[in-house]
Amino acid sequence: MKGILLAGGSGTRLHPMTLAASKQLLPVYDKPMVYYPLSTLMLAGITEIMVISTPDDLPQFKRLLGDGSKFGIRFAYAVQPKPDGIAQAFLIARDWLAGDACALALGDNLIHADHLSTLMRTAASRPVGASVFAYRVRDPERYGVVAFDESGKAVEIVEKPAAPTSNWAVTGLYFYDKHVNDIAPQIRPSPRGELEITDLNHVYLEMGTLHVEKLSRGCAWLDAGTPDSLLQAATFVQTIQSRTGMLVGSPEEVAFRMGYIDADALRAHARGLGKTDLGRALLELAEGELL
Ligand code: G1P
Repeated sequence: MKGILLAGGSGTRLHPMTLAASKQLLPVYDKPMVYYPLSTLMLAGITEIMVISTPDDLPQFKRLLGDGSKFGIRFAYAVQPKPDGIAQAFLIARDWLAGDACALALGDNLIHADHLSTLMRTAASRPVGASVFAYRVRDPERYGVVAFDESGKAVEIVEKPAAPTSNWAVTGLYFYDKHVNDIAPQIRPSPRGELEITDLNHVYLEMGTLHVEKLSRGCAWLDAGTPDSLLQAATFVQTIQSRTGMLVGSPEEVAFRMGYIDADALRAHARGLGKTDLGRALLELAEGELL
């Protein structure tokens, strides 16, 4: 399975911060925002990832991430000329995907959950269908919303409904079987002119192959698309890291734990980060002190 990291859009809700900088490169505490969903994809066992961003911002992502070898993985890059919707990612990546199954992570989503890697591995290993994750929120109208019947089966999925029928928001982490390559081109623009990821998920729902996993209350799902949620995400990461000494959203750490890089490579990363707390934590990990 391949992965797409979508980091496009104009970040209008974060203006003026995003007038001259990509939203997904803004700091969330001690790392660029995109490191969090990148770590998530890597934790799912995905080592071939296409980064999609705007024509202006893509060079900055290349500068930050390189060819992927520093994380023991491979990056491909592609441009989304205009913010025409999340599902467009599959059209942009079509040749690179070459008919493979694919996961998609939105560049402004941060998921922190104890058992996330198990959930993702299950999702990635399903030969048929799509898997999405739902999270209970107070303001579902801001998101794709999924409703369930009494047996817990997903029966409805709607993008930003004015009158939501449930509190379950669909998070920005999706797993699709290879049929996504045929289904995505059939999606038509929504009234707001975008190729909606929710419409793609709706096709899977209609086919009876949409798996919706509810994330439990012990999980944290944060999107960092507004000043408030950006600050909340930063505070969350700072709280966990300073309390436990464990890192949140470090691709270097995930690369090491997943066996994509060895301790020497991790030490080199740590040295490159100088006297930062992040560098120190990576060094401790390389020396086996954080296991
Ligand atoms: C997008 C999706 C929405 C999903 C959300 C998760 O919304 O359209 O279905 O719930 O990401 O972050 P957007 O961020 O484009 O408003």
